[in-house]
Amino acid sequence: MSEAGDAGLARAEEAELEHRRQASAPPGGAQERAADRVVSPLADGDERAIESALRPKRLDDFVGQARVREQLSLLLHSALRRGRPPDHVLLSGPPGLGKTTIAMIIAAELGAPLRITSGPAIERSGDLAAVLSTLSEGEVVFIDEIHRLARPAEEMLYLAMEDFRVDIVVGKGPGATAIPLDIAPFTLVGATTRAGLLPAPLRDRFGFTAHLDFYQPNELGIIIRRSAGLLGVELRDEGADELAHRSRGTPRIANRLLRRVRDYAEVRADGVVTREITRTALELYEVDERGLDRLDRAVLDALIRRFGGGPVGLSTLAVAVAEEAETVEVVAEPFLVRQGMLARTPRGRVATPAAWEHLGLIPPANGGADMPTLFD
Ligand SMILES: Nc1ncnc2c1ncn2[C@@H]1O[C@H](COP(=O)(O)OP(=O)(O)OP(=O)(O)O)[C@@H](O)[C@H]1O
Ligand SMILES: [Mg+2]
Repeated sequence: MSEAGDAGLARAEEAELEHRRQASAPPGGAQERAADRVVSPLADGDERAIESALRPKRLDDFVGQARVREQLSLLLHSALRRGRPPDHVLLSGPPGLGKTTIAMIIAAELGAPLRITSGPAIERSGDLAAVLSTLSEGEVVFIDEIHRLARPAEEMLYLAMEDFRVDIVVGKGPGATAIPLDIAPFTLVGATTRAGLLPAPLRDRFGFTAHLDFYQPNELGIIIRRSAGLLGVELRDEGADELAHRSRGTPRIANRLLRRVRDYAEVRADGVVTREITRTALELYEVDERGLDRLDRAVLDALIRRFGGGPVGLSTLAVAVAEEAETVEVVAEPFLVRQGMLARTPRGRVATPAAWEHLGLIPPANGGADMPTLFD
């Protein structure tokens, strides 16, 4: 990449940090509680700076998501060959899997400048017009959390994406007029953790949609070893393997656990991250072999020991673990459901046999409470 490209990327990283500082969730909510946990898929403010140092900068350094990588590579190379900006790209998937990373890679691979903004940051359509009307040809515009875009801005985006045009409204009331303004051809990269919330007309205007999936432990192992190299951490393969299995399929969590284990290794041992050190450190942080933390286990424990495996309502379950219902629902449950340990049924939450086994208990003979109930 050219020096200009590097500088552009550095600016993009700064913009990303700033944007995150502004857009971070209000304090006190379940989101913040989530970000407090060592296994949270969300990033907190300080973490963003460290993350940008660990972000792969080019497609070749991006680990995993093989199909998405291959498709993107074709998209970008054919655009470069034609000398035209590629189709708009929509990236969807849970937090911490690499959406922002890919947006930055797209700009880097195209050698194009990158503008970063987000749905919540664009409060009025004028904010969006200000971005779009000052673009240079081929620029990449990244709109994070695009599902949170306000309606008028969204409608402005339709026209911009399709015809590279915006209508600037001048004046107010009956005298208001819309002045059409041509804008430079650009590529929009949208990211969302909630693809289902995107209105169809917006979704349809993306020529390329990539859904990011959770990573396999071997892929996380590669990511962890790469990060260890960048952080100057001496990491044994078995240590990497152990970390990979406890990272909930999420690179952000993998990188965070690596840093916690490194701290432990440096203070309590000789700095080398071995399997033993990893196990002891993660025991201290209460992250178990499958990546469950204290809250996850408390939920399963209450469900099984107090309510016989369920079904039990969310609010009752939350009281039993002394948490807010939202915290249990947003923070603990998605992972437990994905692990096949908890099921959400119309009558309430139910522990599956896998949950009983994880707590070292024998599931009830009737196959456990995961069987569909006859009383619905
Ligand atoms: N495929 C990957 N290879 C290496 N590192 C990765 C990969 N994907 C993500 N990471 C690392 O994980 C961290 C989080 O990634 P990123 O910020 O791109 O996630 P995100 O999907 O944008 O999350 P959010 O939804 O919270 O915005 C980054 O620091 C990045 O270094
Ligand atoms: Mg992101």
